Amino acid sequence: FLAQQTDLPLHGERVLVTAGGTREPIDPVRYISNRSSGKMGYAIAEAARNLGATVTLISAPSALATPAGVTRIDVTTAQDLLTAVEAEFKTTDMLVMAAAVSDYRPATTAMQKIKKQADHEPLTLHLTETADILKTLATVKQHQFVIGFAAETQALLANANRKLAAKKLDMIVANDVSKPGVGFNGDTNQVTMLRPEHEPVTTPLLSKAAVAEQILLTALQTREEE
Ligand code: CTP
Ligand code: CA
Repeated sequence: FLAQQTDLPLHGERVLVTAGGTREPIDPVRYISNRSSGKMGYAIAEAARNLGATVTLISAPSALATPAGVTRIDVTTAQDLLTAVEAEFKTTDMLVMAAAVSDYRPATTAMQKIKKQADHEPLTLHLTETADILKTLATVKQHQFVIGFAAETQALLANANRKLAAKKLDMIVANDVSKPGVGFNGDTNQVTMLRPEHEPVTTPLLSKAAVAEQILLTALQTREEE
């Protein structure tokens, strides 16, 4: 038995997901990045598709395959990601910012490969802050339900609550990435979902697919209350 498409909870909804870790070039052969695998974001894209949504996945570099039926847009840097998200945001009903966005980029990108210093002196790289994508979107947000992630190694709920307010989010998904089985590279995750004026909801340690489905269903239920 297959459910009718129109019975699915996200039927008719446009879901935009970002995933992966951005890369900021230092020179033609080097970059700054982070340990994001893209697995959580890809799992959300797949779960949203399974729940009946029309899904666009904006992906920073990731080794993962595009889930069937999902439109994928590839980006490299935080600036590319901002540009792509801004282009899609207006026609989106729900945004899930699972990408691990570089907070800093090299102030300049060298046109040629940087050579080892002849005098063995330390090399200094100057970094500039990137734009905060969620803060930028908060100023143009209309009907969109916006979900952020907070990857923390300490003071999980205090840090995540601060981001929920500062970025004007409808929900933030907090993960303690210092715990085994949680966060960046594995196939499992345990998260706490925080929303304005709601009690926190913590999932058990589950597959990323099951966590993804819970995040989307909780978001849908929260939006329906409003
Ligand atoms: N984010 C963003 N733009 C950035 C950095 C982060 O939109 N330049 C988003 C992430 O995709 C995530 C949320 O903001 O959904 C929180 O990211 P996180 O790195 O946990 O928080 P920051 O605000 O960058 O603060 P810090 O890294 O100092 O903890
Ligand atoms: Ca950050």
